[in-house]
Amino acid sequence: MSATAPTSVLTIAPVIPVVVIDDAVQAVPMARALVRGGLTAIEITLRTAAGLDAIRAVRDEVPDAVVGAGTVVRAGDPARAVEAGARFLVSPGWSEGLLDAMRATGVPFLPGVSTVSEVVRLLELGVDELKFFPAEAAGGTAYLKSLASPLPQARFCPTGGITPASAPSYLALPNVACVGGSWMVPADALAAGDWARVEKLAAEAASLG
Ligand code: 3PG
Repeated sequence: MSATAPTSVLTIAPVIPVVVIDDAVQAVPMARALVRGGLTAIEITLRTAAGLDAIRAVRDEVPDAVVGAGTVVRAGDPARAVEAGARFLVSPGWSEGLLDAMRATGVPFLPGVSTVSEVVRLLELGVDELKFFPAEAAGGTAYLKSLASPLPQARFCPTGGITPASAPSYLALPNVACVGGSWMVPADALAAGDWARVEKLAAEAASLG
């Protein structure tokens, strides 16, 4: 594990790759390629059965990566993910039960929101760092920009439909600290073990931040 534990998901890196992995054997070479390209924060989603083993492998074998868990949606996910080595947690949504479970782990987390009322409720609950999901479908940069004036204390990591072309306009917003996306780890590159391509996509993404 790297020396410093992150205290906020939003300050780890400006661009976070979101990984859907079917075979945990791919996790270590994939993470090494991302790190070589300059992306050190890696969100491995729990939407596949390989997710937890992939997190464990990256924790054990790629000390320069800051590995986290995404698609944290079930009450037991936060504890399982942190036990496997996740150093941050990301959910596409939230409930008060899930929030309690994420808080109980002690690692930084991002609940997902797509409406103003959810932001207001989470601010009431003491959470001001949020994932905005699904970013493009929920209103994109125009929507986030509209939140900056009435809710300046809320800060976001938008994900969902973001591309290398659209990422800079998100990162330019005052209430956006980082963006997430899966474009750096395409399913066909993973399946083929094309780590040179992952590294190249990572380097291009790292240059956006
Ligand atoms: C997700 O949870 O799937 C992420 O937000 C990534 O979305 P994307 O595949 O549209 O980049």
